[in-house]
Amino acid sequence: MAEDALPAEVLVRSGSARETAAVGAALAEVVEPGDVVLLCGPLGAGKTTLVKGLVAALGDEEPVTSPTFTLMRTYSTRPPVAHVDCWRLSDPSEVADLGIEDHLDEGGVAVVEWGEIAAGLIGRDALSVELRPAEGGDPDARELRLRASGPSSAERLGRLAARLASTGAHRR
Ligand SMILES: Nc1ncnc2c1ncn2[C@@H]1O[C@H](COP(=O)(O)OP(=O)(O)O)[C@@H](O)[C@H]1O
Ligand SMILES: [Mg+2]
Repeated sequence: MAEDALPAEVLVRSGSARETAAVGAALAEVVEPGDVVLLCGPLGAGKTTLVKGLVAALGDEEPVTSPTFTLMRTYSTRPPVAHVDCWRLSDPSEVADLGIEDHLDEGGVAVVEWGEIAAGLIGRDALSVELRPAEGGDPDARELRLRASGPSSAERLGRLAARLASTGAHRR
């Protein structure tokens, strides 16, 4: 596929926590060692729910919770997933002290909640997923906007879009 044919942005509608977790599971099929995934959107949007689907699909049965007290928690998945939550950082520059770079260099994947806080500091080609409550009054409806910031995340996004289409996720 020609590079300019890769999608710049993919929109997915989710109607339930289960569907958002399924997007995480689809993401598990395309991530590669060293990848960063930024999760953006307000409290309760479903960021942790998506991470649950990702971690379960990569083979860790540990329950996933928001890493509130630890800021970063690593799951024994393959590749290992570091789950980072920037919500409690008193200063965004603390992201640099969490050891994310080492984790990535060792072949891990980093999934960062409140990724908008960390994006510039991590500064990598990254896939981002912005989760928003969807309009229309259904409290469980979410809109997920997936974007790539460089060539390798664009490649992941292309494969993810194909997977989501084949699993019947509503894509616009
Ligand atoms: N479509 C949906 N996607 C994700 N979560 C949903 C959805 N509909 C309802 N929920 C509920 O919303 C909450 C999302 O919480 P969580 O994933 O912890 O959000 P965040 O990490 O963004 O703060 C959960 O209680 C989940 O069951
Ligand atoms: Mg969370």
